[in-house]
Parts: sequence; C-alpha cells; structure tokens
Amino acid sequence: MVTVTVCVGSSCHVKGARDMIECFKDLLTENSLTDKIELQGSFCMERCGEGVNWRIDDESFTSATCEDAVAVFREKLLDTPADASPGENNLT
Ligand code: FES
Repeated sequence: MVTVTVCVGSSCHVKGARDMIECFKDLLTENSLTDKIELQGSFCMERCGEGVNWRIDDESFTSATCEDAVAVFREKLLDTPADASPGENNLT
C-alpha cells in the first residue's frame, strides 16, 4: 500500500490543498486504485512555501497547482504523463 499524504495545514489549505485532495481522489477512482493507494491529510509539514506540500510515502513534493501535482502523481504512481490519458484534456 502506497500512502499519499497532503498537508492540510493553514498555509497549504489557503494554497489549494483541498482541491488537490479532490484531484487525487478522482485519479484514484478513475484508475481503480483506491485499494492500493491510501490518501490522507496531515498537519503542517513545516515546509510552508510556494505551494501545497505533499508526500508519496517518504518522498516530499511541493506543487503550485493541482495540475502540477496530478502530473507528478501520474508520473510516480501511474507511469502515464498527464496528456496521455483520454478524458483528462480539461486539466489545462
Ligand atoms: S501548512 Fe503545509 S507545510 Fe506548513
């Protein structure tokens, strides 16, 4: 089981953490991964900065937008670039 953790501290919340979680939830559902990837929130990761902070297991990322995060998520967990998936053309 892979764990994806999104910071929901106040700084990341203001920068769109909730939207990011919704994007990840949609990805997990679309790809039938809800039993393989666990999505959870965390308190401040003490890296408040340019964007929303999140992790795949122990690997940390900062994404300025939901689209950026989805691209990383796809690359790391789905092995498909964002523009290779049908039905995802509305992510621009
Ligand atoms: S609020 Fe997310 S890293 Fe601080």
